[in-house]
Amino acid sequence: METGRILLLSCVFALLVCYSGTGVRAAPVKITFDGCKPGRVGLGTDGPLMHCCPPMPKGPIVDFVPVRNMSKPLRVRKALQCLEGEELEIYVQKLRKGYALMRALPLDDPRCLEQHRMCHCAHSTGAYTCQGVGVDIHFGWLFYPFHRFFLYFHERILQHLLGDPDFTLHFWNWDNAGQGGCGKPGDIIPPMYADPTQHSTFHHNRHNRTYHPDLVVDLWVDAWNETRLPGGFSKEVTKARNLETMHWAMITLKDAPEGFSGRVYRAGYPRVTPYVGAGTLEVSAHGALHKWVGIDMDDFSFAAGDPLFYPHHENIDRLWDVWRNLSPNNTVPNDPDFLDAEFLFYDENIVLRRMKARHALDMSAFGYEYEDVPNVEWLTQGKGDAGVAPPADEMPQLAEDLSELTLSDGSERTF
Ligand code: C2O
Repeated sequence: METGRILLLSCVFALLVCYSGTGVRAAPVKITFDGCKPGRVGLGTDGPLMHCCPPMPKGPIVDFVPVRNMSKPLRVRKALQCLEGEELEIYVQKLRKGYALMRALPLDDPRCLEQHRMCHCAHSTGAYTCQGVGVDIHFGWLFYPFHRFFLYFHERILQHLLGDPDFTLHFWNWDNAGQGGCGKPGDIIPPMYADPTQHSTFHHNRHNRTYHPDLVVDLWVDAWNETRLPGGFSKEVTKARNLETMHWAMITLKDAPEGFSGRVYRAGYPRVTPYVGAGTLEVSAHGALHKWVGIDMDDFSFAAGDPLFYPHHENIDRLWDVWRNLSPNNTVPNDPDFLDAEFLFYDENIVLRRMKARHALDMSAFGYEYEDVPNVEWLTQGKGDAGVAPPADEMPQLAEDLSELTLSDGSERTF
């Protein structure tokens, strides 16, 4: 009797520990290559079946934990629009050479650009399965760590190909309307990625609007359905709206359904329709940029084949840190199913590396930082007073304004 009761109690306890309310065993998502299969962006059977599985490793998988080399200064990822003179010239030459070399590798070499495209595709199409369910690292809390690692190994491979361990990919500062920093706007397409005569850094499958060098990007594009397409507004309105979008994504989080980090996403959780469950920045400016650049960039199975994907995502990577430094309340999830999520990436020597999300959190461990760009525009403006705010039912009301808190604590901050 007593034994039976203990047994029953321990079973109930085990069930409580192991199962969440949805009947899924609580565990972190772990990417493994076994059983990788073709998949689709989005749910259902509408889109084309994408074959994006990576080559299998030839040797053992080696764990990766970034450790800062204290004998070296941090490499600085800078704002592309602010490079000038000789620095700009040298950078553009290296960028072209790096991508030419990356494109020239054999197609089955995991370091070639096409394999980077496929790597991102595989993580967007449910190609990998965890507890029998296809995985998508978008639209949830894996979004930031996955992309940080992805960019890091992409950059390491470029360094290796260039024979330059200090080569640093710079970022597309699309949230800068041009009032701060070097005084040049970042909200236009970076010219070094828009020159069609430079095959290595260009990509043909972009929307026509990307051929206009001065056209301001539209961060208010509706990334999660097709009803709000880019364009059709004056430069002034577009810029004001962009700041409002940024202010909402970075500061006004109170009513946002999934907050900044995105939905809780554990092993076995079902995939969702694109953008359901995404955090505020992922769903807004991030998605808007994908749509604004358009065509391949607007399709997660092709996006990372466009070199412009990388500076776009560096800005996302930078803004993750900017957000965390905006307020002590802006913390990443401390749930072990977030922290212990595992990813696999090939490094520059084609060694397959395994890493955990918890090791993505400290950027300096990777040996880089971002240039401090004073992006105070969306911090102090964009509060809805320009009269171009998104309809209240589409973006939450401006409620608690953290920028006031941040700026009144006496510390001078630039973003
Ligand atoms: Cu992995 Cu901007 O998407």
